[in-house]
Amino acid sequence: MSAPDIKNLNYHILVCEGKSCSKHGSEALWYILKEKLNSKKYKQSIVQSKVHCTGNCKFAPVIMVYPDGVWYKKITPSLLKKIIKKHLKKGTFLAKKHILGTIQSDT
Ligand code: FES
Repeated sequence: MSAPDIKNLNYHILVCEGKSCSKHGSEALWYILKEKLNSKKYKQSIVQSKVHCTGNCKFAPVIMVYPDGVWYKKITPSLLKKIIKKHLKKGTFLAKKHILGTIQSDT
């Protein structure tokens, strides 16, 4: 895999692969993302990474979208497709009921 050109990146998506998130389907989410983001449209602008448990296991599976700092909770494949369609394509977050929290950056 070649290193992405950081200046061209719009988003970095983190998928929790901890025990609870794995038990609740994070691996399937990982492969859905991988398939969608491998398209020419996203390949140079979005990267995905796996992270260890974030301590939010009761909200598993958890996905984080940066630089917006949005932590999504209890994500299903269909919600992930909405994140791709709404958040990654249009910059619109999903409804609050799907958001665990947001991290604000001053930079
Ligand atoms: S395993 Fe994902 S938050 Fe704990």
